[in-house]
Amino acid sequence: MRNLLSMNELSTTEIKNIIKRAIEIKNGDYKPFQEKKFVANLFLENSTRTKLSFEMAERKLGIESIPFDAMGSSLSKGESLYDTCKTLESIGCDALVIRHPDDAYYESLEGLNIPIINGGDGSGSHPTQSLLDLMTIYETFGTFDLDIVICGDIRHSRVAKSNFQALTKLGSRVKFVAPEVYQYEHEDYSYVNFDDVISSVDVVMLLRVQHERHDNVMSDVIDEYNSRYGLNETRYNKLKDNAIIMHPAPVNRDVEISSELVERDKSVIFKQMENGVYTRMSVLELILGRE
Ligand code: CP
Repeated sequence: MRNLLSMNELSTTEIKNIIKRAIEIKNGDYKPFQEKKFVANLFLENSTRTKLSFEMAERKLGIESIPFDAMGSSLSKGESLYDTCKTLESIGCDALVIRHPDDAYYESLEGLNIPIINGGDGSGSHPTQSLLDLMTIYETFGTFDLDIVICGDIRHSRVAKSNFQALTKLGSRVKFVAPEVYQYEHEDYSYVNFDDVISSVDVVMLLRVQHERHDNVMSDVIDEYNSRYGLNETRYNKLKDNAIIMHPAPVNRDVEISSELVERDKSVIFKQMENGVYTRMSVLELILGRE
């Protein structure tokens, strides 16, 4: 695999192989690269989990992370993303992890001779989040033959789009819950009432209300969000015994999910973060060439 830009470009076999390898890595079956590898993590949009779990994955694999501070770089003087990445290619980086606020920013990087791993592009794709979500689902159920509801700010969510692409390809039945202002119009997206599906789904995937991508018009929706669209104690008690709750985080506690449910038995939110390291190690091995 040369780049990882979106889930669309991965076959079901490739997805399953990345997950299988991530589970092997989680079980301790990995070795640091013997030959020196250098990866730069360019985060032009804020991040805690993706940035730090890539750094953790790189350190566990013996990869040197080249620090990159967007504000202190020549991007702030107007240098293009292409010229910045070409510079990192020229000084000897082996791969770049990039998060960028623009959808499909990577289209401007065609012609570079360095692998790109997409750490999230605007409202477009978040492939490594999707892969860690898939790993967590597969670890729990051993199958993707599942009923899944994705609930929240679908319109602005790259996680919803990546997971819909991947989960439907793998055989899951995916439905969405969202207030009208957060719905993303797509012929294959089916919107349902949360209370109509809460007792029959295997996975409840909650998404963050992305205040930073909204204008003020959205603020009136927030007031009623938890009661209509959030996971609260009443809905939690209706879940199937073996259902799980997921959220890519960061979580708006008491908006998408009542605060006391974040670490409740059915929540795998922190397991998702743990699995993010193993998934990213699996992807880095694939991109850089496993020895
Ligand atoms: N889930 C996720 O992408 O979190 P960060 O924005 O903290 O990386």
